[in-house]
Order: sequence, then C-alpha cells, then structure tokens
Amino acid sequence: MSELLDYRNRFDSLHGCHYLIANSLGAMPNSAREYSQRYSDVWAERGVRAWSEEWWMLPREVGDKIGALVGAPENSVSMHANVTSAEETIISCFDKTNIPAGRNKIVMVDMEFPSIQYLYHAHARDKFEIEIVPCPDGISAPLDALLEAIDERTLLVPISHVLFRSSYIVDAKAIIEKAHSVGAMVVLDIFQSVGVVPVNLSELKVDFAVGGLLKWMCGGPGACFLYVRPDLAETLSPKFTGWLAHENPFGFERGASKHTEGAYKFQSGTPVIPALYTCQGGLDLITEIGVESIRERSKEMSAMILNLAQERNWKTTTHDDPEKRAGTVALDLPDGLELCATLNERNFLVDYRPSCGIRVSPHFYNTDDEIRDLFAEIDRITVENQSKPSSAAHAG
Ligand SMILES: Cc1ncc(COP(=O)(O)O)c(C=O)c1O
Repeated sequence: MSELLDYRNRFDSLHGCHYLIANSLGAMPNSAREYSQRYSDVWAERGVRAWSEEWWMLPREVGDKIGALVGAPENSVSMHANVTSAEETIISCFDKTNIPAGRNKIVMVDMEFPSIQYLYHAHARDKFEIEIVPCPDGISAPLDALLEAIDERTLLVPISHVLFRSSYIVDAKAIIEKAHSVGAMVVLDIFQSVGVVPVNLSELKVDFAVGGLLKWMCGGPGACFLYVRPDLAETLSPKFTGWLAHENPFGFERGASKHTEGAYKFQSGTPVIPALYTCQGGLDLITEIGVESIRERSKEMSAMILNLAQERNWKTTTHDDPEKRAGTVALDLPDGLELCATLNERNFLVDYRPSCGIRVSPHFYNTDDEIRDLFAEIDRITVENQSKPSSAAHAG
C-alpha cells in the first residue's frame, strides 16, 4: 500500500465519492478550509487594515512558495486570476517597438489548450503570424516538426509541458534549446505538470512559464501564476498592467506607469485575495509530500489503469512510454459522454473530452481499490445498457 495514503485523512472531501479528476480540479484538502476561514476572519476583524497587514504582500508570498516548488528564484513569480490573462501579460510585452523586423512568428501545436490558441489567434489580427504544427496521432507533439518550425522568424513558442488532452509530456528541454539557438523564446504552460511531474524552471532556462493551482496542486480556482526569467524580466515592460506594477503604487501618480522591478512588474490590478488564501492548503501539502514521490505513485496508478483497460481490450488515448505520460489516462470508449455522465451520477468523478475519451486522473490520495471500483462500475453500466431495450426497438 502506498505510504502517501497517510495523507488521505487530510481530505474530508474524499468521503462519499471516488475522486479521480485531478487533471480538472484537485480534491479540496481540509487545510484549504482553514485558509479560507483565515481570509474571512482577517477581513471581518481587521477590515481595510488587512491590506497593509497581510494582503498587499500575499501575491509575493504565494508566488515565492510556488517558485520554491518549481525551481524559480524568489520574486520571479506573479499571481493572476487565470492562465489566459497571465499569457496576455506576456503578449503585452511585445509590440513593434521591440519585436525585431521579420520576427513575429508564433509556433504552437494544434493540441495546445484552446484558450491559448484563441488568444494568440486574436493577436494574429495585427501583431503575429501563427504557424500551427499538427499532432497527427492525437497524442504526442511531433518533436522534429516542432523543432523545424522554430526558426529565425519565431518570436514565441507557447507550449504545454503536458498536453491536456493526452497527458503527453513534451520534450521541453529540446524545444527551449532550439528556440534559444535561433533567438526565440518559450512560454511553458505547466498547468498539467505542476504537482504531479517534477519541473525545474531555472534548470530548463525557460523564458516564461504559466500555470495554476486548481488541478494537481489541490489549490482551488483563481490562483494562477506567471514566471519570467529574472534577466529577461528586467528588459520587459508589460502593457497589460495596473497600479500594483507601479514603482510607487500608493503615490497614485497620473500618466503612464513607471514599472517596479521583480514579480510585481507583471501584476496588474487588485489581486484575487480569497484565492490566494485558499490555494495555500494544497500548495503547503504538495510541498510537504514532494512532487518526486507523487510522480512515482502516479506512474504506478497509470500502469494499473492501462493494465485494466488492456484486459478488457479498451482503447486508451495515451502514450506507451511511461516517461512520456503524466498523470492522466484517457479511456476512449463508445458513448463516452453518456458513460461519463452516469459515472458522475454514481459519484465516480471523472470527465470526458472529445477526441480523447473519459479522463481518469488519480492523485496521491487515491487507493488502488478506487481504480478497480471504477472499472467494475464501467463494466456494470455496460451490462445494464446492453440489457436495456434500444430506443429504436422501443419506438417500433
Ligand atoms: C494546459 C492548460 N492550460 C490552460 C488551462 C486553462 O487556462 P485558464 O486558467 O485561462 O482557464 C488549462 C485548463 O484545463 C490547461 O489544461
């Protein structure tokens, strides 16, 4: 039995359901409730004084805790409401005043998270030219094609460390090295790796990284982050900005912003304070456990899911190599959407994505029995459905 199961008693939220959906929303640890309570208490008891006593520095404190987990130096991680706005902050650093002539190409794979595709395409109206690299197998990002597309015309390569649909781990090191060799920069989206696959941003020498705490970090919605390599940060001046990024925010000066240095340069307006409290429950816990041990346990559970699927001849949308698979295994079964809805009704929490299937994402708090139960439940639903009269026969 996994020793990580000792942490299960820190999650009252796991009672009464099979919680197998960390790729979407990690289970709530009890400590998140304590942090939320602290937020309410501080607000009630200290009122507006909370800003100077606790809230103003919260983005910095949370950013530094995240930095410690992902190999980023202090004061290099800013906090944002979601990844799309963090990514918009990056885009806003580039315009005709600092994009060298002929270097306006964005390279991304067609399996990139849709929100990010929508954002870059919107900017393609006046700023960027986009080259999309197709992923023909629907699972992996084709490395050779990707490296070939990154050339002297490339400005940015926004790429997920782990593809959300297939949980495929891309070769971030090779992509960053190629980008740097031609003068391009990489935006690594670590949303689907942070908390389940070890990441070290300084070792990778990546230019930017974005991610959020609501999935594998068990931190709840609203706490997303942006890392900018410190030497690069010094040269940038985001246009998507606000009073928190000003060098003298309480001077309330008129006119254009004079940006401060460090992480706050990339903040904008008032931060999402409640989320910055709640997220620390998961953040503290994952830091205490360590992502290396979570990764080992995750690999065991993925192998188990694949074996159970193979025994049944079920198709999976997942890479064969365990080193290239992150925390999710997707089961591509007939009528997956309906099947997923039935599983949810029966308190088996999984989700469904088109061209992918039912995504099963166990985390350190799950037992082997919960995985076996899921398969037994799908078997049961399949038998129940077979014994139902078909709608055509019924109509007839
Ligand atoms: C890789 C990746 N990037 C981004 C997002 C979400 O972005 P946002 O925080 O803007 O909703 C997700 C959500 O599932 C994701 O998996």
